[in-house]
Amino acid sequence: MNIQCDAANNHQVGYLQSMVFHRKLINDQSSYGWGHILLHWLIAFAIIGLYPLGLYIETLDYYDPAYRTIPYWHKSIGALIIFALVFRVLWRVLNKPPAPLPQPERMKQLAKLAHLMLYALLILTLVSGYLISTADGRSIEVFSWFNIPALPFAFDNQEDIAGEIHFFAATALISISSLHALAALKHHFIDKDTTLTRMLALHEDPQ
Ligand code: HEM
Ligand code: HEM
Repeated sequence: MNIQCDAANNHQVGYLQSMVFHRKLINDQSSYGWGHILLHWLIAFAIIGLYPLGLYIETLDYYDPAYRTIPYWHKSIGALIIFALVFRVLWRVLNKPPAPLPQPERMKQLAKLAHLMLYALLILTLVSGYLISTADGRSIEVFSWFNIPALPFAFDNQEDIAGEIHFFAATALISISSLHALAALKHHFIDKDTTLTRMLALHEDPQ
């Protein structure tokens, strides 16, 4: 009995490994490749972490010890997302995503609109974050690895205006991401299709 269970478990682990590790780097007609999947989750988790970190910055005063670390992490991780996003957009342009799964045309269009809005709000959040941080003409220090310079000019009230835009864009981004995540969970648990598993590298590649 135990031997049978072990054999079944080993078979399952082997099956999972073959799905996860034999996946290709680039997308094909029916599945996402590693490149797209890694970029999606890397950026998603960074955004989910940066939002509460940003709200926390607003509660800090100058004398709080966290004032020296939290904004520095927030800005450094945010700046790295700028590079990851440029790379992701290039990757997406050069590497077509798989065909959408069968679903009503209206749902396909809604998903497309949500994805477009996520990209647009992400760009707005990143640009406004950059403009807040460089309003005083200082460059952004990214984890003491390198600096991103400020623009050679600034507009009136740059820090305040960019700060307002940053808050609203980041809040809209998190709200639409939450709806997007709920839609992915609905696909998985209610429609029982492979929308979520193919973004998690957990769906079998049709050979
Ligand atoms: C998608 C990524 C990001 C998210 C989700 C995000 C989110 C937030 C949020 C929610 C706040 C609080 C705003 C408020 O309560 O008024 C904030 C503040 C801030 N963020 Fe971001 N942020 C992101 C990227 C960036 C980037 C790339 C930078 C700069 C390189 C940056 C710089 C700042 C700064 C300096 C503050 C403090 C604003 C102030 O003191 O008025 N953020 N961020
Ligand atoms: C928090 C920030 C997130 C952002 C900005 C984001 C953004 C995107 C974008 C733009 C796409 C379209 C494909 C592409 O161009 O790469 C996508 C696809 C997808 N996302 Fe997210 N996402 C986020 C979080 C999540 C979460 C938390 C889940 C799951 C619980 C999720 C599940 C999916 C799935 C399943 C797809 C594939 C949809 C399809 O094949 O039609 N995403 N995401």
